[in-house]
Amino acid sequence: MDSFLIHGGNRLKGKVEISGSKNSSLPILAACLMAEGTTTIKGVPRLSDIDSMTKLLVELGCNTHRHDPLLTDEEGPVLNGPLDLTVTDESKSEARYDIVKTMRASICVLGPLLAKRGRAVVSIPGGCAIGDRPVDLHVRGLQKLGADFHYENGNIVGRVKGNGGRLKGCRMYLGGPQGPTVLGTINVMCAAAMAEGDTVLVGAACEPEVGDCAELLIKMGAHISGHGTPEIRIEGVDKLKGTEHRVIPDRIECGTFMIAAAITNGELELKHCNLDHLVAVVDRLEEIGVHIERKDGTIFVNSARRLNPVEMTTQPYPGFPTDVQAQLMALLCLADGMSVVTERIFPDRFLHVGELNRMGARIRKDGSTAIIQGVKELQGAAVMASDLRASAALVLAGLVAKGTTRIDRIYHMDRGYEKIEQKLRAVGADMERVKEG
Ligand code: EPU
Repeated sequence: MDSFLIHGGNRLKGKVEISGSKNSSLPILAACLMAEGTTTIKGVPRLSDIDSMTKLLVELGCNTHRHDPLLTDEEGPVLNGPLDLTVTDESKSEARYDIVKTMRASICVLGPLLAKRGRAVVSIPGGCAIGDRPVDLHVRGLQKLGADFHYENGNIVGRVKGNGGRLKGCRMYLGGPQGPTVLGTINVMCAAAMAEGDTVLVGAACEPEVGDCAELLIKMGAHISGHGTPEIRIEGVDKLKGTEHRVIPDRIECGTFMIAAAITNGELELKHCNLDHLVAVVDRLEEIGVHIERKDGTIFVNSARRLNPVEMTTQPYPGFPTDVQAQLMALLCLADGMSVVTERIFPDRFLHVGELNRMGARIRKDGSTAIIQGVKELQGAAVMASDLRASAALVLAGLVAKGTTRIDRIYHMDRGYEKIEQKLRAVGADMERVKEG
């Protein structure tokens, strides 16, 4: 296993190219299972989660091909070439535990498989470091479209029995105790795209990743409107065809780099971003004293030396994203006073707190709230990454800490941040990847 060694204190300065969104790419790749012919997806980042999804799609009968990078492409990041997916064999419908346990987003194949193949067996994703993550809303939504489910040996086994093996549209409420579900909305929306008749999803998630998947489905021939609002309307079609689509920029990577600029008192130019997807993050950062400017698809970020403390609560989009909570907390550790962070999406998503405290932070957790008393400096220490965004918070803290920070288990980071050390080193970070031990 690899670790990062970070020698803190360098001010970051320069340009960073933001990658395509991981959380858009994963369900979009799964949706390609429904298309006839080849679908070409541009901007898919090279990450271990994407490798897991590609492996799953190959097991489900897809041919995949990654083109060389498009060096002259003006519209988006040039790190990676487009990814082609073509379904050549529809006989298999099983997402095995071996893959699902490494990547929960495997659940995204459930809706597309039921809609196109009439059956699906998906291993039940267990809990993870950020808490229990049930999939009951995915299953309920698909049941309402006519799928039958039972649970067998750790698997969700789904079938479309009636209506000649075709799902049937209906009006349904999709929210749960914590509000809407992002991947649940996408799963049911995908299935409804090929169901018979009309579906209305009330209480749908409004995250940009839902809208991005809807745009892909529309290009494939689906009839969808209202995506980006809590009410999505879908008129089912018989067939979807291959198409070409570019995934949206990764708003969470962008937010993380904005905080990297702020925490190192640096100056970054972030290319290929969509600031409209980050309004709540910009709102909190500006309150803290970070200066953010947009020019076309580029964001310029720099920060004052003095950071103001703030209150922040994570919420469904357009509220502050849970996926930037840990990174913002790293920044607030150095604010001039007391900040309060409340987690409303995953109330246990605080594994970074203990590690940040090992670096000299003063954070006290009280249920789903963390109270952060700003300190003058953080100190380098040996810490352990526990999940993707917690790892990002530790990297940010390491960039500013006095001395050397060693972060173990950075495979979590590799799940969601493309070429992170190359990108950070290019703007002045002193960090290296070493073998754990
Ligand atoms: N929930 C249920 N039942 C369900 C599904 C969700 O109760 O069937 C609850 C969850 O426990 C949570 C809330 O609903 O309290 C919202 O969860 P959601 O379903 O929206 O999460 P997700 O779709 O599984 C995606 C992202 C997460 C991100 C969340 C919230 C992907 C691959 N994952 O997960 O990203 O935190 O939405 O925005 O898109 C990450 O990238 O680090 C990450 C964890």
